[in-house]
Amino acid sequence: MKAIVLESAENPIVYKDVEKPTLAPGEVLVQIKAAALNRRDYWITVGKYAGLKYPTILGADGAGIVVETGGDEGKEWLGKEVVINPGNNWGDSPDFQGKHFKILGLPDDGTFAEYVKTRAEYIYAKPAHLNWEHAAALPLAGLTAYRALFTKGRAKKGDKVLIVGVGAGTGSIALQMAVAAGCQVFVTSGSGDKLQQAKKLGAAAGVNYKAQDWAQQLHELAGGFDVIIDSALGEGFAKLPDLCNPGARIVFFGGTAGDIPAINGRKIFWKQLQILGTTMGNQDDFKGLLKLITEHEIKPIVDEVFTLANAKEAFKRMEYSSQFGKLVLSV
Ligand SMILES: NC(=O)c1ccc[n+]([C@@H]2O[C@H](COP(=O)([O-])OP(=O)(O)OC[C@H]3O[C@@H](n4cnc5c(N)ncnc54)[C@H](OP(=O)(O)O)[C@@H]3O)[C@@H](O)[C@H]2O)c1
Repeated sequence: MKAIVLESAENPIVYKDVEKPTLAPGEVLVQIKAAALNRRDYWITVGKYAGLKYPTILGADGAGIVVETGGDEGKEWLGKEVVINPGNNWGDSPDFQGKHFKILGLPDDGTFAEYVKTRAEYIYAKPAHLNWEHAAALPLAGLTAYRALFTKGRAKKGDKVLIVGVGAGTGSIALQMAVAAGCQVFVTSGSGDKLQQAKKLGAAAGVNYKAQDWAQQLHELAGGFDVIIDSALGEGFAKLPDLCNPGARIVFFGGTAGDIPAINGRKIFWKQLQILGTTMGNQDDFKGLLKLITEHEIKPIVDEVFTLANAKEAFKRMEYSSQFGKLVLSV
């Protein structure tokens, strides 16, 4: 079968023929129709990810049809259209993943291929309102944003929510879900075009984080926030406590723009703020994500679709963050 293989540090994105996976009992084989990039895949290809392993088929996100099972388990899925939860072996605590947690596409072979194997428990019916590209765009970013917003951030109807860097795959789906949940959502982006697109998706207003006074602009527009979702960190993060209402939650899961800068801690304790780290989500978060996007017929934003053979082009676009939403591979 054809696949995109992380071959070596020098050749991280190689389109080539590889062996089709063989199944153990409890596993199912999914014929991939579409897959999607996450910044994780990019970090892996530039060597900035823990546990690099060569060779590995890249890709955490995928949607397709179940074509084979390794035993009786999962037989009811044969011929069904599915999406895959890429977060495996979460563990026993709902609060954090255990030490055996892993994500599809490193260390196990991933979805940038004609076929991927996964355990039957990680496949879910593809929501009927999603085509293959939209379905592939959902899992990792949707799961992470869902847990950040609702499980950790406790966002609810009427809350004022800020999404930092709305152009991100995670940021755009967070915006869509927060709007659907009845929150008043504000956004930041480094691009005026993306701010306009966010407004079309229901954002109340947005500001460009490249402006010197972006935090002041936001404060004038929105007052304070109850929940802030951030995946950038960097210098801008220091301003977030100023923008919080008392009792607010700042939830973050990435560091695209750097690390946590010096922060005025007094604002955090005086306002009783919570700064919460989060990573992906468990099976309950994934079920909650599917329920929410099905009820509200949310379609993840797909910026561009590439062929599997052209995956390198998709990675190049991600490097410059010119996309709004997700970059998808049609398989
Ligand atoms: N821990 C987890 O479970 C988990 C899960 C998913 C993602 N992540 C991490 O979260 C981050 C986002 O992932 P993704 O896949 O959504 O990435 P992505 O689609 O590549 O989006 C990256 C976005 O970051 C925004 N950005 C860049 N510099 C910024 C800055 N200085 N201030 C604010 N925003 C900035 C940009 O938004 P604009 O285009 O709007 O300017 C850009 O589009 C990555 O670091 C990723 O590794 C972690």
